[in-house]
Amino acid sequence: MGHRIVLMGPPGAGKGTQSERLAEHLGAPHYSTGDMLRSARDSGTELGREADHYMSAGELVPDEVVLGIVREVLTEGPGQEGFVLDGFPRTVPQAEGLAAILDDDDRALDRVLNLRVPEEELVRRLTERRVCRENDHVTSVDEAEDGGCPICGSRLVQRDDDTPETVRRRLSVYDRRTRPVLEWYRRRSEVPVQDIEGTGTVDEVSARLLSRIGP
Ligand code: AP5
Ligand code: MG
Repeated sequence: MGHRIVLMGPPGAGKGTQSERLAEHLGAPHYSTGDMLRSARDSGTELGREADHYMSAGELVPDEVVLGIVREVLTEGPGQEGFVLDGFPRTVPQAEGLAAILDDDDRALDRVLNLRVPEEELVRRLTERRVCRENDHVTSVDEAEDGGCPICGSRLVQRDDDTPETVRRRLSVYDRRTRPVLEWYRRRSEVPVQDIEGTGTVDEVSARLLSRIGP
């Protein structure tokens, strides 16, 4: 059986870092709506231009736009059987839309994993995050080597939504629009929702996540 997993958590919780590892472990694709929207923006598509307006303000891109992207990858992309979703669903209508997309093909989610990290740690991680220009490696100012990416040496930049003001906005949008998605899943009780402590080293968090997944 494939693993169909949603990895949730506030901005900076480590969804991207951990989804990448989890997907590799499972041999399943990792779909990050944030990464997909940023790449649409960087290629200058109309969708990317529309999304940029919301993303740089720390607001959510409209549900129908995001649902369109996710529907396409989940019905046409690799990973019909298993996948790790990162940064989606982020609103209750998106969670309902996802359930409908999967249900159309008699599929369902296996679990929702929720990374928990205290707010002051989130703010620190986001304002210290750096991304490399060439290969999108995610790192932090502390790990930079001679100002460059510790993995490939290319120039590091800050995501334009990682400024203190936009980070505050994103955290408040998370509280208002995304936290209720966890409650929605818990109330429906069709999919197990498991909280995972997201503090400690990246390896420690990975070990906690994998212990929840099983073999
Ligand atoms: P998105 O890209 O999804 O951003 P986000 O949810 O705000 O989350 P981040 O990517 O900032 O954090 P993360 O949890 O992935 O953490 P990471 O692993 O990088 O969305 C961006 C925007 O796109 C949204 O604001 C919205 O506009 C739009 N959007 C996206 N999806 C949407 C949707 N479904 N609907 C509507 N709009 C949507 O880690 C963060 C930092 O911490 C890194 O520097 C990392 O190296 C470090 N780190 C990770 N783990 C640890 C650890 N254990 N200890 C110390 N540091 C750590
Ligand atoms: Mg991310």
